[in-house]
Amino acid sequence: MCGIVGYIGAQQAAPLILEGLTRLEHRGYDSVGLAVVGAGREPAVKVVKAAGRVRDLGSDLPKRFSGRSGIGHTRWATHGPANDVNAHPHTDEKGDVAVVHNGIIDNAAALRAGLADDGVTLTSDTDTEVLAHLIGRSVAETLEERVVEALAAVEGTYGIAVVHADFPDRIVVARNGSPLIIGVGEKEMLVASDLAALVRHTTTVAHLADGEIATLTPAGFTTFRHDLTRVARTAAEVDVDPTSYDAGDHESFMRKEMLEQPAAAERVLRGRLDERFGTAHLGGLEMDPRETRAVRRVKVLGCGSAYYVGQMGASLIEELARIPADAEAASEFRYRNPVIEPDTLYVAVSQSGETVDTLLAVQEIQRKGGRVIGLVNVVGSAIARECGAGIYLHAGPEVAVASTKALTNMFLGFSLLALQLGRVRDLSVADGRRLIAGLQALPAAVEEVLAQEDALAAVAQRLAEAESLFFVGRVRGFPVAREGAQKFKEISYRHAEAYQTSELKHGPLALISEEVPTVAVVPDDELTERNVAALHEIAARKGPLVVVTHPGVDLGGLDVVRIDVPHLERELDPILLTIPLQLLAYHAAKHLGHDIDKPRNLAKSVTVE
Ligand code: F6R
Repeated sequence: MCGIVGYIGAQQAAPLILEGLTRLEHRGYDSVGLAVVGAGREPAVKVVKAAGRVRDLGSDLPKRFSGRSGIGHTRWATHGPANDVNAHPHTDEKGDVAVVHNGIIDNAAALRAGLADDGVTLTSDTDTEVLAHLIGRSVAETLEERVVEALAAVEGTYGIAVVHADFPDRIVVARNGSPLIIGVGEKEMLVASDLAALVRHTTTVAHLADGEIATLTPAGFTTFRHDLTRVARTAAEVDVDPTSYDAGDHESFMRKEMLEQPAAAERVLRGRLDERFGTAHLGGLEMDPRETRAVRRVKVLGCGSAYYVGQMGASLIEELARIPADAEAASEFRYRNPVIEPDTLYVAVSQSGETVDTLLAVQEIQRKGGRVIGLVNVVGSAIARECGAGIYLHAGPEVAVASTKALTNMFLGFSLLALQLGRVRDLSVADGRRLIAGLQALPAAVEEVLAQEDALAAVAQRLAEAESLFFVGRVRGFPVAREGAQKFKEISYRHAEAYQTSELKHGPLALISEEVPTVAVVPDDELTERNVAALHEIAARKGPLVVVTHPGVDLGGLDVVRIDVPHLERELDPILLTIPLQLLAYHAAKHLGHDIDKPRNLAKSVTVE
């Protein structure tokens, strides 16, 4: 959430920062700004900022902002509305210091009051501005000391980058809970909150750890603790294809990422399936068979769509391994003082690996002595590092705010975990092999669903006309409905409500009418008959129906729009049933003319509580 970029070196900073900000815009896009340290005998910090997008800063900006070091920010508002004043960077009263900040300062109100009592005029509503004043008022000798002194007063989370007119040879950065990555170039250094802003320039990077600060100069970087003792941190090469952060010829990142699903699915399965023993090999779990057998319960924690896929995963584990398993919203978990059991395996699931609610749940479990593994896409991210063990998802960079390919790979990650847990228990080798065959066939089956895009686009256009929709499913189909409704509301801004099909008659049926369509998930399974009976009840109230189902399912002659997806193994149904719902949401949003990759009020990677 929010993006930070900084540059110091021989090139002009402004164009590089603007380019980096464009690559980070999915992290927050309500306002944007940058500060450049001008050259000359009396270097000054020049700031420009505005509500809106990077492109709104104007194409003539680099000409007006010459200087070889600077910092930039793209914002997702937490304190105060998205306007020009609240945009980052924030400065002190003299305008010598500029600060960009990701995260939340919890004691900002008290600090603001203290500064106001001291006669400081605060101009914005933000928490970040206090940092600029605190640094600006410090009389310590070095910029590093001033930053550390200011941070000592602050409670909360931050990733910050600071420039100062009196210290034009450096950028000082600090991290506590919000990621910062240092990029090492040829006589130039970069910093960013996300690899996406760096990889065009360098793939030699160092991740700053929580509690560390760093000084960047054109010659290199030095890392410190808050007592300013040195920390040895060396940069390493990351294996990443810079073009994977580009949309290429695709009209949006979301479409690109949906179409990448078959290839991404192959990657997460590669080298992890053992056909001989009908099981999975997950070295990253760091659990031997005895420990795997000792697991008595599985609890999955994730947020938003990751939570819904977590529900799919928990059902899969319960079904295959016969271990009680459930999923819970990580954002709620630690607030109910959860009982942490020694023989429960906790699984934190996250694309970004930075979602703070999930990270805090992980820390709560660990603090109470529980064992938690991560199902994470971004290698080296906070959740991955905190868990230490787990399954990387190998979906590749996901840029669109609406998650697609990472979710599919989460489901596959859960399938692998369920296989491994199942095969040290009662899952037979034959069933293990049956599932492996299903998993191997899955990428091609996803391709088949994606090939129905034109037909799905036509259905989506009709659904887009409705102000309100239901998405319904039962048992395995319910998390599918939840994810379908989530995608639809997230990018089309239509009210989409997910319900258990079985619960409709207990209340929501009252809302069904000609104007309120229902998208029903009806797999070919032991519940098909009950599901079809519910469809009749909806049809009897004139509710239009779109049914996502399997070939051969008899819908009892109902007048519905039917979408068939391939049927592999029933345990794997949920993910294939989800793919058409992604396309429905996408084409509804497209039809309505929305900015699909940057839906209103949202941002990728929620690093605030
Ligand atoms: C919805 C979506 C969000 C994320 C959620 C968790 O399309 O993308 O609901 O799933 O914010 O994010 P991660 O997986 O990064 O922890």
